Amino acid sequence: MLRLVASELDLEHTDRSWLRSLVEDLVDTMRDQNGVGIAAPQVGVSLRIFAIEVRPDNPRYENAGDVPLRIAINPHLELLGDRDKPSFEGCLSVPDMRGVTLRHESVILRYLDEGLIDQQVQLNGFEAIIAQHETDHLNGKLYVDRLRSSRDFGFLPEVTDFNSVHV
Ligand code: NI
Repeated sequence: MLRLVASELDLEHTDRSWLRSLVEDLVDTMRDQNGVGIAAPQVGVSLRIFAIEVRPDNPRYENAGDVPLRIAINPHLELLGDRDKPSFEGCLSVPDMRGVTLRHESVILRYLDEGLIDQQVQLNGFEAIIAQHETDHLNGKLYVDRLRSSRDFGFLPEVTDFNSVHV
């Protein structure tokens, strides 16, 4: 499932209460596991939907700021600038590991929100990185496919010397 390219949500043929419960499941799972983002394939549904939320009290990401919950259905990312920003990442689907990838500093995200309303927003910094990480999930990619170097990857307790690039 995690290596598949997920399908667009077919709005005409999707039961709205089923969609609501899928979104609830995504948000609950993300919060339970102290994630800052989650994509539908991570809960066993191969559809192009993700959620992003950073709570200031998240113990897995200290000082990461405060990003309100955003549900993105059929998202499209436009990548701005170069892919040159080091990003210290983990993933709920790759437990206990961390690695350094390179990401774009800013993106434009177009998507339908949970009310199926068209949205477009420019994201910068941490939220832009999460949107890139979650979009990768929809395309069957994990952050380990984008490591800056294979040396920049390890079990969380052992990974200390590249903590300085923590986003
Ligand atoms: Ni992930």
